[in-house]
This record gives sequence, C-alpha cells and structure tokens, in this order.
Amino acid sequence: MVPTMGALHEGHLSLVRASKADCDITVAWIYVNPSQFAPHEDLSKYPRTLQADIDKLDSCGTDLVFVPTDAEVYRPGHSTWIEVGTIAEPLEGRCRPGHFRGVATVVLKMLNMVQPDLAYFGQKDFQQAAVIRRTIADLDVPVEIRVCPTIRENDGLAMSSRNVYLSPDARQRAVVLWNGLEIARRMVAAGQRDAAIIVRQMTELVVAAGGEIDYIALVDPNTLAAVTEIAFPTLAALAIKIDGIRLIDNAILEP
Ligand code: PAF
Repeated sequence: MVPTMGALHEGHLSLVRASKADCDITVAWIYVNPSQFAPHEDLSKYPRTLQADIDKLDSCGTDLVFVPTDAEVYRPGHSTWIEVGTIAEPLEGRCRPGHFRGVATVVLKMLNMVQPDLAYFGQKDFQQAAVIRRTIADLDVPVEIRVCPTIRENDGLAMSSRNVYLSPDARQRAVVLWNGLEIARRMVAAGQRDAAIIVRQMTELVVAAGGEIDYIALVDPNTLAAVTEIAFPTLAALAIKIDGIRLIDNAILEP
C-alpha cells in the first residue's frame, strides 16, 4: 500500500514503483485526512486533483486506488485516537499540535482496512515515518514499513504537494532548504562537529533568502533528541515558510 493525500507528484509515484517492484498487488490510498491538520492549518485549501491523481497512478500500473470518504473513515461516534509519545513531540509535533495523533490514527485505520504486507512512505517526512514505525511496533501491527528516498527537482527542492503554491519568485528562493542541507553537509565533511555553528550557518542562509524559520535542528535520527556534537550520523531537519508556504526537508549528516 502507498498511503497518500493525493495531489500526487513524482515522489508519490516513486513509492508506487518501489511497491510494484516488491509486491504482487499495489494499492494506493488517497484521503485528505482532516484529523492531521492542526487548528491553524486550512484543510479546505489542501490541493485536490483526484482525476489527475488516478491517471498518474494508472500510468504507473497501480492495481487499486482506494479513495474513502470522510464518512467511511470517521464513522459516527468515532472516538479512539493514537497518541504517540516522545518521538512525536519535537520538530513537526511542536509546530503542528495534534498532527501526529491524526497521522498515527489514520495510518492504523488504513492498515486495518487494506491489510497490506508492506506500506511505503517517503523520507521527506522523516518524523512521520519514525512515528509510524513506533506505532506499529508498539501496537504489534503485522506490516513492514519501507521508507524511500526523497525525490527532488533539478535544483534540489524536495518534491511536495505544497510546491504548487509557490510563486515563481518564492519557488526560486525555496531552494534554500536544499542549500541549507548542502552547507551543513559540506561543513561536516570539512570537519565541523559543533551543531550550534552548523545551525547558525543554515539560519543565516535561510534568513538571507527571506525564509521564516519554524525550526532548523540537528537531531539523533533514532530518538529525534537534539545533538550538540556531530559524533554519529545526525539528522539535519528544517521547516521553513517561504512567502507563507511551509516546506520541510531533511538529510543525514555523516561525520
Ligand atoms: O504523508 C501523507 O500524505 C499523510 O500524512 C498520510 C501518511 C497519507 C496520512 O494521511
């Protein structure tokens, strides 16, 4: 199964291709899940392109597309929610209250509805994949999670359903997320180990591009706890608003 919220791009299609390479039957799930939008986020503005999505899924050989309605996913009286602990708290969890509660709940529901052997997620949503792994381990859900690499535009910008909102000028400046990760990688390759110095450089770059910072963090990829020294492979993660459009990206820094 490839779970999505629609507005599909090459990143999603790469998950479909990975699933097709591994599995007999590939099911895509398209559902804009209201419960994972934080109170300040506008669900009604999320891009909806169902027919184009189905055409794209069809062209890469998806066997089944499941497009449940709100009434099918959250039936009357729904009142059970998955609260994931520590791993869901920093980064996205801090900026988007209730987000991972909604994600973990809908993912568990979709795993129960579809009952796939494998489910595919993108590395761009690193914390989401970590939260889902935690949930299925804690609740003994019989599914294997596969996380596939982030697919990027030619200039490095991570593909995202939200990129369509960027004006041509904002689109050019949005490459700063990638440039920030690149500068961090270069600093680590050159021997820099002080996380604060790396974060400062990334911050300067983002500010110069007119980005508004939700977070720029260097964390342990297993626990998402902040690190002060790059002593092991470390996750650099950032969430930046460009002209009000919120984008995220991440990379592993290898000392
Ligand atoms: O990554 C997404 O598109 C969503 O968070 C997911 C996993 C489909 C749950 O609604």
